[in-house]
Amino acid sequence: MEHRELGEGGRGLLRGRLISDQREFYEAGYTQPDAAEALRLGRWRELGARSKATHVRALCARTRLRPRTLVEIGCGDGALLAALRGLAPVFDGFELSAPAAELARKALPDARRIEPFDGAEVPAEDGGYDLAILSHVLEHVPLPLPLLAEAARVAHEVIVEVPLEDNRSARRPAKREEAAAIGHLHAFSRADVRELLAGAGLERQAELTDPLPYAHHAFFARGAAARARAATKWAVRAAVHRVAPETAQGLFTVHYAVLARRP
Ligand SMILES: C[S@@+](CC[C@H](N)C(=O)[O-])C[C@H]1O[C@@H](n2cnc3c(N)ncnc32)[C@H](O)[C@@H]1O
Repeated sequence: MEHRELGEGGRGLLRGRLISDQREFYEAGYTQPDAAEALRLGRWRELGARSKATHVRALCARTRLRPRTLVEIGCGDGALLAALRGLAPVFDGFELSAPAAELARKALPDARRIEPFDGAEVPAEDGGYDLAILSHVLEHVPLPLPLLAEAARVAHEVIVEVPLEDNRSARRPAKREEAAAIGHLHAFSRADVRELLAGAGLERQAELTDPLPYAHHAFFARGAAARARAATKWAVRAAVHRVAPETAQGLFTVHYAVLARRP
């Protein structure tokens, strides 16, 4: 049944069921029994957080936004909030996965609130924050629009970042499987994200795309040959993205970050 054929009550029930399936997936994802693997995943998230934080700071600088209060919805283990220290004096994080929220709470003793939540209703008042961040969350959510609208409810400005996976490389079956294994339910194009923003009543103010640095491409490379392949891949992607960013988006995955605000 199409979601739009359901009444508001039916949509709420469906959302609740989908979110409880999601919660199990992300609770398991942040409960790593192998200590060495947990450490490696932590380093991977930290590396990703550095690029994401650079994007958030760049968008804030471009729009002259100096938030006093900030919330990250879907803050995971807190890596991005940690990399954003100093951007806003008061910062909170909410997370669907309780084990992830626990990790974030430990990593961020200076946060005001770090709490698990139901993945649907952010426990904050309307306009309670200057800035809400949804970083690499919407592609994991069965129904992205209600969560984006929730971000727009609690904050005046919203930054969304997603990987743009509607491209030739990411459409290959092996890549789709990889993305599904890490919980990606959507392969967004830039147009999809713009449509979501408009649907949530948000107006775009600034945006950027990033083909990601060498360290990112090389993180899982084992051995000299794999590192050389990663270096080539990075160099080609960076060059294509520099010369023809629109073409790059049709060929391989770039990260897309956008700052939007309520009119
Ligand atoms: C790829 S991680 C991104 C973590 C962090 N935002 C970052 O950029 O480093 C995706 C996160 O979204 C969370 N998530 C999934 N569904 C969610 C929902 N409905 N509401 C809030 N968070 C959700 C997952 O638990 C996971 O921590």
